[in-house]
Amino acid sequence: MSSIIQSASQELIKPYQANITVPNWMISSMERVMQYYVDKNLRLDTISTDRMPKPVEGKKYMLYAHIPFCHTLCSFCTFHRFLFREDKAREYFIALRKEMQMAKDLGYEFESMYIGGGTTTVLEDELARTIEHAKTLFPGIKEVSCESDPQHLASPEFKQLKGLVDRMSIGVQSFDDGILKMTDRLDKFGSGQETFDRIMAAKELFPIINVDLIFGFKGQTDEIIQSDLDMASKLDPRQITTYPLMITHQTRKSVKGQLAAPHGEMVSQYRQILNSLTGQYNQLSAWAFGKTDNEGFDEYVIDYDEYLGVGSGSFSFLNDTLYVNTFSLKKYQQRIAHEPHGG
Ligand SMILES: C[S@@+](CC[C@H](N)C(=O)[O-])C[C@H]1O[C@@H](n2cnc3c(N)ncnc32)[C@H](O)[C@@H]1O
Ligand code: SF4
Repeated sequence: MSSIIQSASQELIKPYQANITVPNWMISSMERVMQYYVDKNLRLDTISTDRMPKPVEGKKYMLYAHIPFCHTLCSFCTFHRFLFREDKAREYFIALRKEMQMAKDLGYEFESMYIGGGTTTVLEDELARTIEHAKTLFPGIKEVSCESDPQHLASPEFKQLKGLVDRMSIGVQSFDDGILKMTDRLDKFGSGQETFDRIMAAKELFPIINVDLIFGFKGQTDEIIQSDLDMASKLDPRQITTYPLMITHQTRKSVKGQLAAPHGEMVSQYRQILNSLTGQYNQLSAWAFGKTDNEGFDEYVIDYDEYLGVGSGSFSFLNDTLYVNTFSLKKYQQRIAHEPHGG
């Protein structure tokens, strides 16, 4: 089954080459075939690091760590996350460091670390401690990537990540206040201009800044898309990622029709993105753009064939098998608590 997932994801990350005016009936048929094989073959048995295979000698691995907390839960978001509670989040970071020790005990070494969320910067002191811990356990780690919302960039604690994080990916989604209001992000994360100013100020903290944008929102006109791309380019980040608004079973009710533009509009928006960024950026994958061809990191972590994930809801791909860690915070804490090592 892993080969199906792999080939599907390889299709997804293939740089744009083909004619994007594929008829809708063909796309829906392909989706149905994909769904058939996923339902038939994919068995998600949740396990944590205590039951992972040992590493293969000489193989290069990446460490993925998931932080499933956010101060606000955006209705369009498809990621595994819970509403932030400080006591729960602190407990979680301790368990995460313990699970890293379990990976060390299995014999794993890593060259690279990707911390994803949720919002990885919900508690900067815990995040800093976790990165330091990872670097002590795995001295081979040369680069660390994190994700943040724009609000956190303004906090004084954010500065403690300087020197620890090589790539900071910031969820802008749009600089347009109308889109931010519609997605309920304006009051929570600040206006487009505030976000722009915060990113400008944070640029000196990290070697690589990535700006995440989303296209395919209702009311996101060509002018808004262009202005989003112009504002992003003006910041001159090393990377820009432009996601199409994705809808899953969980978000279908809250997003489809309410936040999402008709499918046809996305096609022309994607074309506009390609036209606008070509020349300034190299296309790294379907949605990721970088100043150079070799950026080290991109949103799909395609540089490493195999990776080990720690944390609730994390995925690992090892020995051609996909492993999924439990999505329940309670079960996650219980599993890690049985292990003897401290974090
Ligand atoms: C895991 S989130 C972390 C970012 C951070 N929490 C924030 O909101 O600013 C990473 C990125 O995934 C993208 N994303 C989340 N839900 C999406 C969806 N339904 N469709 C497309 N992109 C999505 C957003 O661009 C977001 O910035
Ligand atoms: S978009 Fe970011 S802040 Fe919003 S719920 Fe998703 S991970 Fe959390």
